[in-house]
Parts: sequence; C-alpha cells; structure tokens
Amino acid sequence: MGSEFDIERILWTEQEIAGRVAELAAEISGDLIGAAGPPVVFVGVATGAFLFLADLVRRITLPLAVDFVRVESYGSGTESNGAPKISSDLKIDIRGKHVVLVEDIVDTGNTVSCLIPHLRTKGAISVSVCTFLDKPARRKVHFELVGGGKFYRGFECPDSFVVGYGMDYDELYRNLPYVGVLKPEMYNK
Ligand code: PRP
Ligand code: MN
Ligand code: MG
Repeated sequence: MGSEFDIERILWTEQEIAGRVAELAAEISGDLIGAAGPPVVFVGVATGAFLFLADLVRRITLPLAVDFVRVESYGSGTESNGAPKISSDLKIDIRGKHVVLVEDIVDTGNTVSCLIPHLRTKGAISVSVCTFLDKPARRKVHFELVGGGKFYRGFECPDSFVVGYGMDYDELYRNLPYVGVLKPEMYNK
C-alpha cells in the first residue's frame, strides 16, 4: 500500500507535468507582469498543492510571496463531504494584493468556492485560481473569480480517482512524481 505498484495507469508523466507547469507559469507571469503594486501572493491549499506550488513558483518570473491555507473536506475517503472548513488560515496580510490560489485538483468545487470569498474578504484585489487538474465531470458548485482573476488549469482530468504529484489516498501516494489512476481494489477493501 502506498507505492507505484498500486497504480493502474499513468495519466501524466513527470516530464509531461514539468512541461505543462512551465507553460502555466509563463502564462501567469505574462498576465501579472502589468499588475501594479506589491508582490503577488501565491496561496497553496495544503496538503495536496505542495508539489505543484513548489514547481510553479520556481518558474514565475515576478516578485512573489507564498502562503498556505488548509481546508478539511475529504477526510480519509474518496468523496467530498460538501462542507469544507478552513482549519488553518493565512499567515501574511493579503490586503491590496493580487492572489493566485493554487490547487492540485478542482473536483466538486467546494474547496475553491469556500476559499475565493474568504480571500476577497481578507482584502485581495483579485483572486485567480491555478489548479493542476480540473475534473469538470464532478463539479457540484459553481464559483466566480473576483477582481478580474482568471482560471488556469494544467490538464482536464477524467472522472477517475487519481493520486500522485501531491494527491493522496488516505495520505499516501503524494510523493509519486507522476499522476496515475489508483487501482480500485486499493480503496474498495
Ligand atoms: C483535495 C484536493 C483539493 C480538493 C478538491 O483535498 O487536494 O484541495 O480535495 O476537491 P473539491 O473540489 O471537491 O473540494 P483534500 O480535502 O483531500 O485534502 P488534501 O489536499 O490534504 O489531500
Ligand atoms: Mn487539497
Ligand atoms: Mg486528499
């Protein structure tokens, strides 16, 4: 349990991920280069976004700050319970700053739809969302970006339970450098 042998198939390799992350970073850097004022704040959603955030910010060519929030929604299962709670809030003051909320995956939309208004209330001028994966087939909640923020996504994800590159099942598999579909027998037992 917790190794590459539990993966049914690989969806994106380490090389494919690196290429797409570089493209996203270039796009975001280009969009924010004209943004006047203080450094942009990249806010990662712990824990899943940690690898994507680390890879993304290393390729952003602007002054920036990094912070984290933690939202509890899935627990140890594979289904969102629909009532996310912010269990760890920002350390830095985002008043008057552009914020890029960084996620590993947007699934039902519950997590980002909870966080966008929260970041706005804390004074962000704009909130963009940059998610490594987007799984629109599972969307339950519509969310609106604020202050002219944009939605960036690395790849559209099929409706399968994926792990790796930060994403877990029961806290395992986050360290896999690729994204793969977990064998169903791993979570059906
Ligand atoms: C996962 C994932 C996203 C969220 C997406 O986090 O990392 O943050 O769920 O699902 P949603 O769009 O349905 O809200 P999880 O709650 O599993 O915590 P983790 O990041 O610590 O794994
Ligand atoms: Mn998460
Ligand atoms: Mg999780």
